[in-house]
Amino acid sequence: MHKITILDLNEFIYKAKTSKLLEDGSFTWKAPSNIALVKYWGKREVQIPENPSISFTLSDCFTETTLGFKKRKKPAKVYKSENNITVTSRESHFDIFLDGKRKPEFYKKIGEFIIRISPLTPFISDYDLLIKTHNSFPHSSGIASSASGMAALALCIMSMEKALNPDISEELFYKKASYLARLGSGSAARSIKGELVVWGEHKDIKKSSDWYGVEFPHKVHENFKNYQDTILLVDKGEKVVSSTVGHNLMHNHPFAHKRFEQANENLSKLTEILQNGDLKAFVNLVESEALTLHAMMMTSNPYFILMKPNTLEIINKIWAFRKRINSNICFTLDAGANVHVLFPEKEKETVNAFISKELIQFCHKNEYISDSVGSGARQM
Ligand code: DP6
Repeated sequence: MHKITILDLNEFIYKAKTSKLLEDGSFTWKAPSNIALVKYWGKREVQIPENPSISFTLSDCFTETTLGFKKRKKPAKVYKSENNITVTSRESHFDIFLDGKRKPEFYKKIGEFIIRISPLTPFISDYDLLIKTHNSFPHSSGIASSASGMAALALCIMSMEKALNPDISEELFYKKASYLARLGSGSAARSIKGELVVWGEHKDIKKSSDWYGVEFPHKVHENFKNYQDTILLVDKGEKVVSSTVGHNLMHNHPFAHKRFEQANENLSKLTEILQNGDLKAFVNLVESEALTLHAMMMTSNPYFILMKPNTLEIINKIWAFRKRINSNICFTLDAGANVHVLFPEKEKETVNAFISKELIQFCHKNEYISDSVGSGARQM
């Protein structure tokens, strides 16, 4: 198990620079969504993954967030009371808008996030915060916006920290952004920087950590450059079981221990595959990870199923097509019914034709998003 040392933590504590006063202003960041190849499913307090995961960063699915801030006369109260009720002086301390509409349903999650990060970013309570956010993908498309959303917000907060303490190195800026993002949503730790990001300590990934994501440190084979991800929107409804509840069901899960071991082994294998370009092995590992994730859901207690009939229709079509033309197309799933269709750039033409002809019919209102691997967040 990972040992936490005071020295480790110290790196992330805000070092006050009284010389610089920041009265008001705003920062804007655009952060991408990501799709895990080896899945994170199961966590401990606070947002520590039970196993390491790795994801492709996406390019066109992103959240753009502007964080406006204004110095308060008196610091806001930011703490969790004894009966576990979130206490922030929310009314005046922060507000959040999605596409111009105030979103009271996000207050709890953002309030929790502020409480979690404030020991590391104590300056936050000195300001009133106005969060304005926009997702590039359709609202309630079933695509989780928590990874890109929390990453964008964490980066805006880091820009505030940098304005207060310009000495912070670029390396620490991104590392701490990932650390903060993780406290909002685990997978958000992988939405900061890099095309392939590992989050969670793993023996083959130097400098990997349970606390933040790191860029995959090895040279990636040409076959995986500009990899394509077409997201088929099968179901746009609200999920029957949230990720947070699903993660918690891994406590006392009969297969949990074996699953965490397997994820570690799969990350070792994938580390080799990404370097040697073995597409067949990639397909096998990625699909197995997706089905294992859903198998964990189906064998939880209470059990649940997030796939829909059309998810399976699509999977079967992909398998038939792959066999027919010896393609390297494969699928992966996150915690929902949508299917991510992954394929090498050089198969783009044939696979796109196949998707249009045979898969789009299974999407909700024929909707899908063509995306590919991107390189991380950008300040606007
Ligand atoms: C299935 O990051 O959404 O997409 O930490 O509770 O916010 P929280 O969970 P979240 O879980 C993502 C789970 C997954 C797999 C993955 O992205 O690795």
